Amino acid sequence: MIKFNKPFIIGHELEYIREAVENGKISGDGIFSKKCQQFLEERYGYKKVLLTTSCTDALEMTSILMDIQPGDEVIVPSFAFVSTANAYVLRGAKIIFADIDPRTFNIEVKDLEKLITKKTKAIVIIHYAGIACKMEEIMALVKKHKIFLVEDAALALNSYYKDKPLGTFGHFATFSFHETKNLISGEGGALVINDKKYFERAEIIREKGTNRTKFFRKEINKYEWIDLGSSFLPSEIIAAFLYAQLENLEKIQKKRVLLWERYYNELISLEQKGKLRLPVIPEGTTVNGQLFYMLCNSAKEREQLTEFLKAKDIIAVFHYLPLHQSPFYKSVHGKRKLPETEKYHKLLLRLPLYYPMEKEEQDFIIKCIFDFYKKN
Ligand SMILES: Cc1ncc(COP(=O)(O)O)c(C=O)c1O
Repeated sequence: MIKFNKPFIIGHELEYIREAVENGKISGDGIFSKKCQQFLEERYGYKKVLLTTSCTDALEMTSILMDIQPGDEVIVPSFAFVSTANAYVLRGAKIIFADIDPRTFNIEVKDLEKLITKKTKAIVIIHYAGIACKMEEIMALVKKHKIFLVEDAALALNSYYKDKPLGTFGHFATFSFHETKNLISGEGGALVINDKKYFERAEIIREKGTNRTKFFRKEINKYEWIDLGSSFLPSEIIAAFLYAQLENLEKIQKKRVLLWERYYNELISLEQKGKLRLPVIPEGTTVNGQLFYMLCNSAKEREQLTEFLKAKDIIAVFHYLPLHQSPFYKSVHGKRKLPETEKYHKLLLRLPLYYPMEKEEQDFIIKCIFDFYKKN
């Protein structure tokens, strides 16, 4: 069976977990959390990084940091993970869903300004499959209308736009270390804060609304409840696992990008014959090997291909279902159509891609795709 994803251990994960226990601290913000945060800040130039238990947590923190209130509007692509919208709905925002650019599945910038009103508080973007959004246009809009930009960079670690790391553009950016991501810690995430103004409040929100972080740094002699917050920080067990992965970032990235490129180079002849469509990589963007998707010519064909692969013990999956048509939000969204999202989400299929994938496994997947298109 070739699963869609496989978690892996690459270095000192288990030793570091043991070390954390032996150090006598496995709750949050110990040595390993600090090492991970420092690693990410130094490598990518993020102003401040706080580890969280998930990207979802980091998104929820941005919602509190931006003081989202009932009646505020937040613009989010409909082709998104639930948390990308839910984080703001939790605080009372109305989500204004945007359509996607079918070339990249990223937010469409052409009509984005039309969605901005006096109530708009933020635009949240996703760099889908790790490929950067059109950052010049988005930054211009955000500056013109003086609204927040959040980069949901769950899929975008170690990817760039014109040599600038993704996660450095927004006021905030959020990352995921869920087991399906490039670097993993089971569940796990990080919040990037690029504006100094929010450093202190972010620490408080992450520690249940208290100034415990300051207390632990011995800057104050007691800690108190001073703001909204929740328990967003991960345990040292998660951070210890993650640090071992960060130490192997180059190795993981090299392998994932290699696997991505092999899929691309092998399947391109099927694209040339019009059988399927491969990802588009616009100029100035990079591939980080997060996920490999292909587009089928119809929803029916996607279903047939998924079944065909499943019969060969290969698990290929799709995502995301348009959020503007979801049972939870369709009545709030109303009837406004998002034609590209509605059309293209039905065609996308993600192929297995994980660090320990063997060449023979990938060869077999590619062969099966060719076999399918011989018949279809
Ligand atoms: C774009 C995006 N944002 C957020 C998340 C949620 O990440 P997590 O599972 O770390 O909360 C995901 C999950 O895959 C995602 O794809």
